[in-house]
Amino acid sequence: MAKINDNYLKLKAGYLFPEIGRRVRAFAEANPTAKVIRLGIGDVTRPLAPAVLKAFHDAVDDLATTDRFAGYGPEQGYDWLIDTIIEKSYKPLGVELKTSEMFISDGSKCDCANILDIFAMDNVVAIGDPVYPVYNDTNVMIGRTGEADEKGYYQGVVYLPCNEANDFIPALPTGKVDIIYLCFPNNPTGVVADKAELQRWVDYANANDAVIFFDAAYEAFITDSSIPHSIYEIEGAKKCAIEFRSFSKTAGFTGVRCGLVVVPEEVMGTTPSGEKYSFNKLWLRRTTTKFNGASYPVQRAAAAVYSEEGWQQTREIIDYYMENARIIREGLTEAGVTIFGGVNAPYIWLKTPAGMTSWDFFDKLLTECHVVGTPGSGFGPSGEGYFRLSAFGNRENVVEAVERIKKNLK
Ligand code: MLT
Repeated sequence: MAKINDNYLKLKAGYLFPEIGRRVRAFAEANPTAKVIRLGIGDVTRPLAPAVLKAFHDAVDDLATTDRFAGYGPEQGYDWLIDTIIEKSYKPLGVELKTSEMFISDGSKCDCANILDIFAMDNVVAIGDPVYPVYNDTNVMIGRTGEADEKGYYQGVVYLPCNEANDFIPALPTGKVDIIYLCFPNNPTGVVADKAELQRWVDYANANDAVIFFDAAYEAFITDSSIPHSIYEIEGAKKCAIEFRSFSKTAGFTGVRCGLVVVPEEVMGTTPSGEKYSFNKLWLRRTTTKFNGASYPVQRAAAAVYSEEGWQQTREIIDYYMENARIIREGLTEAGVTIFGGVNAPYIWLKTPAGMTSWDFFDKLLTECHVVGTPGSGFGPSGEGYFRLSAFGNRENVVEAVERIKKNLK
């Protein structure tokens, strides 16, 4: 009989969001008249920007013609999309990138997982806690960890606790690690890192020959102009950082699927015999072998996000979600809840009232307010006692959810 990859058996629970979905479905089936408001998974609710939708439609129409028909595209993405992103999104930050350093994909979740293919198994990985669960779980799946302890920490991983005492910004590892996951604006806490903070990480990485995986999926939600949008705004980052970006939240592509990875040519690893080797070359090799590119209409739609009209409309949608974040933040603060995040990020991280556990608060909100959020402990042991609300709902639902929670907590 074929043997399974038993690393999967080390995983302690199902993936967080399907588990929440299961509990919500069970509640909804038992309470069919309850109007459940979902502010759990960060899934967008606004329609695509009209200019983006038009480009999407036009590209589908291209497929109906013989002269504009598109079959297999370049596995790493069309140059016209890559060059547009470099020109419109990186150049204004003062960041120069080559076309060959950017890879278009079908989303950031897969990229964060797949990047592990090009790193040796004996690299030591440092992961924040709480954290986007994909970073942790994919390291378990690939076999880089031992078993989990009773708290949920996997043997072999260096966890970097993020809590109120350190303003949810992890301290540098005390020993040497090889790979560091950073996510700013952070999912789940919604906090951001300024340039000085990121400089500390880049300096650590360069001093220790480590690589930073910088997840910038929420950069478009930054409202404070002093906060960096890209790790490459930091001196020395091109030597040590791989950046992930996503159209999911920025442009409402959670169902459309498009993301990107930047792997600068200067980011080097070592071969077993100690020679330097470029991760860019390996990622290109992996991409061209294991992927056939994001679809042509999706890439056309993604390029339209950066047209003048497309960007203006996209910004309006981002502002809409950030107004939701303000409504949640201010409403719950009025109700006496301690709130973090939600200023430069579409997530509000709150301290559960009266010291409740994260899952107890989840059940309370679901059963008493019919509001779904995400238990902080689902993002790691240090998330216990916290709870995440997403600002991606529609306005009416967000206002109603806040009113229901306020009334309940009075
Ligand atoms: C989240 O809610 O944390 C995100 O939507 C999950 C994701 O982007 O995969």
